[in-house]
Amino acid sequence: MKIIEVKDLGFKYAGTDFYAIRGVNLEIDEGEFVVLAGKSGCGKTTLLRCLNGLIPHFYEGEFEGRVLIDGIDTRECPPHILSQKAGMVFQNPDNQLFALSVEADIAFPLENLGLPREEIRDRVEWALKLLGIEELRKRSPFELSAGQKQKVAIASVLAMKPKILLLDEPTSSLDPVSAKNLIDAIIDLNRRHGLTILISEHRLTHLIPHADKLAIMDRGRIIYFDDPRRILKEDVLIYGVSIPRVVEVAREMRRIGGCIPFKDIPLSVEEFISGLKGALR
Ligand SMILES: Nc1ncnc2c1ncn2[C@@H]1O[C@H](COP(=O)(O)OP(=O)(O)OP(=O)(O)O)[C@@H](O)[C@H]1O
Ligand SMILES: [Mg+2]
Repeated sequence: MKIIEVKDLGFKYAGTDFYAIRGVNLEIDEGEFVVLAGKSGCGKTTLLRCLNGLIPHFYEGEFEGRVLIDGIDTRECPPHILSQKAGMVFQNPDNQLFALSVEADIAFPLENLGLPREEIRDRVEWALKLLGIEELRKRSPFELSAGQKQKVAIASVLAMKPKILLLDEPTSSLDPVSAKNLIDAIIDLNRRHGLTILISEHRLTHLIPHADKLAIMDRGRIIYFDDPRRILKEDVLIYGVSIPRVVEVAREMRRIGGCIPFKDIPLSVEEFISGLKGALR
């Protein structure tokens, strides 16, 4: 079933004279893991804002086309209802955290929904456990590391029990180890809990082996949307996508005389080694 359907979507921010995104068509199945990549300014954040209803409800401008989230037209549904379908985690977690403790931060949007106290407690526990941050519950969000803050931000979005998790460059302020740790947690949410994930990222190395689809944007349009193995056979460097080194090596090996007959482009070191073993057997 299609959980996200985008048809001929375009948006021009008020006060600008160009469409930040235009002619965007996208269909994502329930449970898919989709990575969104492309040069700075190509429209990734704008597209994500359209999927959680911030556009057109908070940002003024010219909106064209249509976005259906789990069958609901975003223009006809207020963002606080949409956030229970498609939760968004922003680049800078500080914008999403404000309470005195981690658990209060996670509980706050649930209190706003008017949920019973028992239910709120259960959901906070569930979200803390899911991200493996139970020990942070009493801490102030402001004294946490960037990686911990980002996990709290994700937990507070997940406590709303959305079917879709939208993440806008969640690792951009993290060191490589914390980034990998966060990406592993996000992959786990998809694999074990069936969440549909759309994540915008520049650093693809850890993400890409787990992606069902890769979407590449350029100047407001989606120019590729396919299995990453098929896309990475092409030369996507020109679109500002930093591809995993292992993909570059495999492509180069193929180019220089096809000495290693990789059937598919390997997306991880593990896939590269198993391809090599197969070829040498
Ligand atoms: N609030 C806004 N008001 C006016 N123009 C905006 C606004 N937000 C984004 N834009 C413009 O829309 C275009 C797309 O920006 P967007 O932030 O969606 O790109 P992006 O792909 O997320 O870039 P980055 O990788 O740097 O985050 C850019 O030209 C940008 O200047
Ligand atoms: Mg952005």
